[in-house]
Amino acid sequence: MEPAKPHAVCIPVPAQGHINPMLKLAKLLHFKGFHITFVHTDFNYNRCLLSSRGPDSLKGSTSFRFETISDGLPSTNQRGIQDLPALCLKLPVAGLRSFRDLIRRLNDSADVPPVTCIVSDGVLSFTLEVAEEFGISEMVLFTPSACGMLGYVHFEELKDRGYFPLKDESCLTNGYLDTVIDWIPAMKGIRLKDLPTFLRTTNPDDIMFNYNLQSVNNSVKAKAVILNTFDDLEEEFLDAIKTKFPNLYTIGPLHLLHRQLCPETSLNSIESSLWKEDHNCLDWLDKREPKSVLYANYGSLITVTQEQLREFAWGLADSNYPFLWVIRADAVEGGEEILSKEFMEAIKGRGLLVGWCPQEKVLIHPAVGGFLTHCGWNSTLESISEGVPLICWPFFAEQQTNCLFSCTKWGIGMEIDCDIKRGIIEALVKEVMEGEKGKGMREMSQVWKKKAEAATSPGGSSFRNFDRLIKELEQRPI
Ligand code: UDX
Repeated sequence: MEPAKPHAVCIPVPAQGHINPMLKLAKLLHFKGFHITFVHTDFNYNRCLLSSRGPDSLKGSTSFRFETISDGLPSTNQRGIQDLPALCLKLPVAGLRSFRDLIRRLNDSADVPPVTCIVSDGVLSFTLEVAEEFGISEMVLFTPSACGMLGYVHFEELKDRGYFPLKDESCLTNGYLDTVIDWIPAMKGIRLKDLPTFLRTTNPDDIMFNYNLQSVNNSVKAKAVILNTFDDLEEEFLDAIKTKFPNLYTIGPLHLLHRQLCPETSLNSIESSLWKEDHNCLDWLDKREPKSVLYANYGSLITVTQEQLREFAWGLADSNYPFLWVIRADAVEGGEEILSKEFMEAIKGRGLLVGWCPQEKVLIHPAVGGFLTHCGWNSTLESISEGVPLICWPFFAEQQTNCLFSCTKWGIGMEIDCDIKRGIIEALVKEVMEGEKGKGMREMSQVWKKKAEAATSPGGSSFRNFDRLIKELEQRPI
């Protein structure tokens, strides 16, 4: 009798920036012969059904199946995944219970092979508890950059050294955040304000700070840590992280590795978009000149004020470049349509506004010449992979760290480091699209694009690391 396939249960944090890389990894494992159970929360599973290409997008196959667990949030919590503190409080409790039930059910089922490993998001520590209970090995995927992760790795020391919590609210505005930290390895000269924003609080019990600190500490129990980055890009940060997590696998950019290894598999129709993608924007891009369009998108979690939206709008309009601007339906505080008729008139034929787009396809499109981004790690890495320079508007979490190194070390970005004003946006767009500095950034972007491709091609670091990862994941407990 043939031995049963190895069976990996893949479970992401229920947010788009975590689901996307985990789904890519799950598809890659499936390609290497694993049976896959991909775990959504009930809430997101239903959202995916509504926003993706219908039920087929979650149908999978006999060897790639979807399951759900509870996130513990009441159905009255309309903000769903956008309410991160609520999620961090509820998910570990409700998730632990229903994840344990799920593993038991999978192991008792005659339909699927017994679970041989769990691949969990690094910030879902409850899965480690379940893995231990069932004697299953677990690896964790941290979805931020290595530089961002290095900040989280030092949360405990930042607390011990008295940087967290802040003494009082004035620290937020009196220049204290410019304090230089010179003891984090590989990050000499980094300022407090470049580190993950969860430390900017006077509350010692802050949920987000403590949740991230504990997640990093708990992850030492995992068999290995996986990062969606590549060695050439973040070598020094990776060396520093290895002192805490010696068994580290860098296998990114995951979407490039996926493109390399499984360009055409039946699983490519599987998707997990939480918003409905507007594909017409690709036709619109087809009609534009190469590198003529500025693409603007703030990712899946950020909200902007009406004032910021207005300034962005007029900055983009006044730049006179064609632009594709993604504004999620839930992205504007106070909600609803506030862009004036005058603005819509001014951008007619030149600007396209959509609610959500197929970003990977947009960034690879030859018409796109620059990306105004919030510096979420997936967006940064997707842009690096296509050689598109950045205008950086980091908002929260480790986006600040991604911004810093995009603008300094990697030479591919310019930061909006002040209040949003239309004149500043206009000037930055012009600079990135056609200025001298923009030219240099475009050249550097091409250099990193080539390195990202090399890392994920046969013989490249991520390609080889993925093979090693498979070997380790295939090992079964004796
Ligand atoms: C971010 C950071 O990634 C994360 O590291 C941080 O801890 C929390 O905030 P997010 O806002 O989701 O998450 O941004 P990003 O990491 O860039 O991920 C967004 C994903 O959604 C990308 O894969 C992007 O391609 C996709 N996307 C985004 C679309 O497909 N369409 C869109 O219109 C916008």
